[in-house]
Parts: sequence; C-alpha cells; structure tokens
Amino acid sequence: MTTRQPKLIIHGGASSLEHKGGLESVRQSLHQIVAEVYDLLLQGSPAIDAVIRGCQLLEDEPRFNAGTGSVVQSDGQVRMSASLMDGESQNFSGVINVSRVKNPIHLAQFLQQETDRILSGSGAVDLAREMQIPPYDPLTDFRIQEWMEERRENFQNKNRMARLIAQDDPDSSARRGTIGVVALDQQGRIVAGTSTGGKGLERISRVSDSAMPAGNYATKQAGVSCTGVGEDIINECLAAKIVIRVTDGLSLPQAMEKSMQEAKNHNGDLAAISLDHSGAIAWGKTCPILLGAYHTGEKIGDTLEWGEEELMGYIA
Ligand code: GLY
Repeated sequence: MTTRQPKLIIHGGASSLEHKGGLESVRQSLHQIVAEVYDLLLQGSPAIDAVIRGCQLLEDEPRFNAGTGSVVQSDGQVRMSASLMDGESQNFSGVINVSRVKNPIHLAQFLQQETDRILSGSGAVDLAREMQIPPYDPLTDFRIQEWMEERRENFQNKNRMARLIAQDDPDSSARRGTIGVVALDQQGRIVAGTSTGGKGLERISRVSDSAMPAGNYATKQAGVSCTGVGEDIINECLAAKIVIRVTDGLSLPQAMEKSMQEAKNHNGDLAAISLDHSGAIAWGKTCPILLGAYHTGEKIGDTLEWGEEELMGYIA
C-alpha cells in the first residue's frame, strides 16, 4: 500500500504568552511536542495514537490550560473536559467536567470503543476509578494563587474579564486556554483531540465546547480542534462547520476563512487549527493570538507571531 506524508498541527490555546514563560519558551515547548508526535507518525503510528500522545504531552505541560495547570472554577475546584474524534470511524468520545485525573484524554480514548461514548461529572470520575487510574491533583501553585487573588477581590475580575472580552482586549486572554492536536497519518486517516480546564471561574456544571463537536470534529475529509471562549465556539458550531464545509466541496482555506469571517461578524472570541485529506494545514482566529505549531513533513512552523489582524493562515 502506498503511504502518505503525515501532517500534524497542535495548539496550546489562544491566551497571552505573559504567564507562559514568554515567546521563545512557549515556542520551544510546542516545537518539541510537534517533533516528538511527528516522529510517531513517521514510524507508522496510527493518527489516533499520535493524537492521544500529543494531547497527553500538552496536558502534562503546566503552562497550558488542560490536565496539569488547568484553571480553577468558581468554587475553587478543577474540572476538565476532553474529546477525541476518529475521522475514519467518525466516532466521537469524550468526558465533561472530570476531576482528579492526570490525563482526561485517556478517558476519551477508552470511550472510543464503548456504546456510551460521552460521560459527564461523576460518571466520568467513576470511569477513571474503573480504569484504575490513580487519583491525581492537577492544581498548580500558579492556578491556586490566581484563584486566591480572585477570591480576595470578591471575583470582580470575572466581570472585568467579560468586559475585556467584549472589547477584544488582549488582557482577556486568560479565558481562552485549551490544547488540541489534529493529525493525518501515513494511511490517510485523520483524528482530532482537544482538552481543557475550561474558562476559569465558571459556574459549577458549565459545559465546555472541548467535549462537543463544536470544539473538536473529524471525518475522512478533515479535522479541526478549537480554542477560545467555549460559548462563542458553540454558537458557531465551529469545528463541525469547517469540516462539513470541506466535505461539501470547499477547500480547507476557504472553509476556514468563511467560518472565521462569520465568527468575527458575531464578535466571536476563538481560534481553530485544522488539516484535510489532501495534506493542507490551516488555522484561523478572531482573537489576538493563537499558540499553534505544525509539521509539514519538510519543516516545523508556528503561529506565535502571526499577525493580530489576520483571520486565517494555511500551507497547501
Ligand atoms: N474553549 C474552552 C472552554 O471555553 O471551555
């Protein structure tokens, strides 16, 4: 069987570099993860294994808002959501608001083969117990400090953040954290994975886009992982919309641009990474920054210094 050149794109969210160690440090971290995951694809790993490994590495990196380093909700607890979509089988699986696990993506992985494929809250926690995953506290000192400060100020910042988002102020970026991976393997299979700690300071039981087809979607034609404000991503049904546009005949850059333009018209605060069956890689954003990196087979690149005003970028 002829093999394809694998393609890979990942993201560490759309929040500012300020609390993440700065541009070069984030670049190094993303490039290292892209290189490791791309090696797996080159060795013939299925896209699903590469995506799970990529999500695990990003969840384990405390600077990103997923797994270790997840933001804290209004009651001081961490609750995480993650999903996996295999474009070949078109199976979507995920967990919503799970706590005390290291890698929520592993629960989504387990659920791929199940008949009940999306679990929330205590059901997801029960699954982790059933899988004998050891309890793990993903809370970092930085995140608890952040929350303590909020509490001292009686959560005024939550309202301030909402205002900044409405004004498209880059300082509002704390609420745009997520991680994601989309891969095309040597057999032409596409898989997308996404994981998040949520927006931070949200109401208990608020549901993130990251474990919905709005935030993570793949078919045989294309795959997309989103980041940004979940409610805005859900309003656009962004990941599924981009993929379906490709399935219906638009090129990936056209589908990305059209979808981003619509989101911008609706004042959406979001970003997305994607690739398609032809090997095209594309990304888009309506927010100021996207922490993305990709491997084309020839080179590693990233979106870290990509223009504030640009809606879309791609490599054919
Ligand atoms: N996009 C992550 C969230 O809003 O939960």
